[in-house]
Amino acid sequence: MTNKLIAFEGIDGSGKSTQIKKLAEKIKGNGEDVYTTFEPTDNYIGKLIRDVFSYRYEASQETIAGLFVADRLDHLLHPEHGMLKMLETKHVLTDRYYFSSYAYHGVHVDMTWVMEANRMAVSKGKADLHIFIDVNPEICLKRIHNNRTHIEMYETLDNLIRVRNQYLLAFDQMKDRENIMMVDGNRSEDDIAEEIWSLFKNME
Ligand code: ADP
Ligand code: TYD
Repeated sequence: MTNKLIAFEGIDGSGKSTQIKKLAEKIKGNGEDVYTTFEPTDNYIGKLIRDVFSYRYEASQETIAGLFVADRLDHLLHPEHGMLKMLETKHVLTDRYYFSSYAYHGVHVDMTWVMEANRMAVSKGKADLHIFIDVNPEICLKRIHNNRTHIEMYETLDNLIRVRNQYLLAFDQMKDRENIMMVDGNRSEDDIAEEIWSLFKNME
């Protein structure tokens, strides 16, 4: 199999990082190499984004959307640790990619503009597969509350519902151009992992 770029999408607390870990283990167990990564990154621009999310620096929703575009291009194109570099030798699994921008920023600013602003990332690094882990927003909020003492900017029930709807809208709009798979995430971790493993094995 050629090396694949797979993006995991879902609202906050949907189980993306749990499933990335499980898929990476299975891929390695199968004798192939894999790099796991995430957005916002923990590089310069990603850190700036986290400062905005934790209210250390105030920025407009348009500015935040722009910061994510910059962080994503850095994530993709960095000559040493960029995803394109990694793809030369291994599979890449990313926790969030450009559909996160369509969904999270499309709630606040025009989604067509967000898509346009992400065009360079899509043309240079289109994901081979986007896996959407679909979980009831109320369940996600409970998981978030069980695990954290502070809640970030977008983590309210109202917003999770709106973001989920925006994801569905974006998937519908892009269904002819992107490879999108929806997975029912309201199940046990292992059941979800089995389904994702079979999606991976079915890739060419
Ligand atoms: P995300 O990366 O999408 O924010 P996580 O993988 O961190 O989500 O999961 C959020 C929380 O929910 C974690 O405490 C995790 O252990 C738990 N969790 C993940 N998947 C499931 C599942 N299928 N059922 C119940 N709890 C889960
Ligand atoms: P993250 O730390 O990955 O949160 P979680 O583990 O709960 O998914 O992401 C932080 C927040 O960043 C999350 O609420 C979604 C948001 N986000 C955007 O608003 N736009 C984007 O383009 C991306 C990649 C993430």
